[in-house]
Amino acid sequence: MTENAQREKAVLAYSGGLDTSVCIKWLQEKHDLDVIAVVGEVGQDHDGLEKVKERALASGAVECRVVDMRDDFANEYLTKALAANSLYENKYPLVSALSRPLITKHLVDIAHETGAKYIAHGCTGKGNDQVRFETSIMALDPTLEIIAPVREWDLNSRDAEMAWAAEHGIEVPTTKKSPYSIDDNLWGRAIECGVLEDPWNQPPDDIYTMTDDPQAAPDEPEVVEVTFEAGVPVALDGEKMSYLDIIYKMNEIAGRNGFGRLDLIENRLVGVKSRECYEVPGALALIEAHKALEDLTLERDVLHHKLAMEQLWANLVYDGLWFSPLKYAVDAFLENTQQYVTGTVRLRFYKGTCTVTGRKSDYSLYNYKLATYDAEDTFDHAAAKGFIDLHALPTKVWATNRREQAGE
Ligand code: ARG
Repeated sequence: MTENAQREKAVLAYSGGLDTSVCIKWLQEKHDLDVIAVVGEVGQDHDGLEKVKERALASGAVECRVVDMRDDFANEYLTKALAANSLYENKYPLVSALSRPLITKHLVDIAHETGAKYIAHGCTGKGNDQVRFETSIMALDPTLEIIAPVREWDLNSRDAEMAWAAEHGIEVPTTKKSPYSIDDNLWGRAIECGVLEDPWNQPPDDIYTMTDDPQAAPDEPEVVEVTFEAGVPVALDGEKMSYLDIIYKMNEIAGRNGFGRLDLIENRLVGVKSRECYEVPGALALIEAHKALEDLTLERDVLHHKLAMEQLWANLVYDGLWFSPLKYAVDAFLENTQQYVTGTVRLRFYKGTCTVTGRKSDYSLYNYKLATYDAEDTFDHAAAKGFIDLHALPTKVWATNRREQAGE
């Protein structure tokens, strides 16, 4: 096909899989658009993104850009995720939800740079990721138009899609597709579909690639010290490292000790309950360590109010509202809390567990003289009585009234 200079352009979030390859042709054929494919390197497992680029071009993209987003992902996104100790529904560390806004930011930048009026993605109409891409696009540039080919087309089975691909000259994978749907990045790996769709089925061993089976993990515990500065990990076992490198390293350490596997039923934004398995070794270990340091350094009221903010933040990000005013406001709160989250936490990994065994900080609010039961105790025991009398007063008044009314 010859390139027409007058043709409008679409920027497509491209993964290299069959769906997004078919998207390229679909955008050309059905929407008469030139396609600029964008591949985000976010720490996913791959055997060369150059191959992915070739595949995009072979599928008809006029251009394919591979963008290494890892530094930004670690420093702008995963710092905030850690500040929020973010766990959707108290369990899921938001792996995919964190990468979507970052990828979208690049899609929008590239649309601006190339004069593209359209942005396209390969998500289905049933998941959260479509919401995240589209909400982020609307927040960053409400004038851009969105196309979601997978929601448009009628290629309901994989066979129908393969047939359409073959008819349109797209290279069809010859190897049998993995029965699972997988999304992965620095913060972990999400696995769904196949036998996992029955919530009673035990997850098969072959779904895991980042973590070893806890039963097969080393018999000796592994101990590691994580040092934080203002809430951000800066060293492992005293060795200074970038946060990005620390995440890679923690994935390795926790993974080889069988820590970080999750098997969940999760409530999607679109109203569906789904069975999701995750492996999030580094993310969960860092969140554990970070929480332990906050326990030591955050004042009680701040810590308590922060718990509610953490949940709000996780919900906003899960729901695709990364670039939204409320999310920005919660970011500001969380950032303020991190100023003195500086110190070191000791973690002990052993056969699928990760335990905090020590924490220290120059900003520690733990006061030995107040806490000790030994002779050095400076706590004013006598003051406790008056404190409790006033603390309990409203409850006492209430209890007295109920007893009187009951004729006691
Ligand atoms: N349920 C998770 C989320 O909504 C993960 C989705 C990832 N996609 C996948 N193909 N497994 O964030």
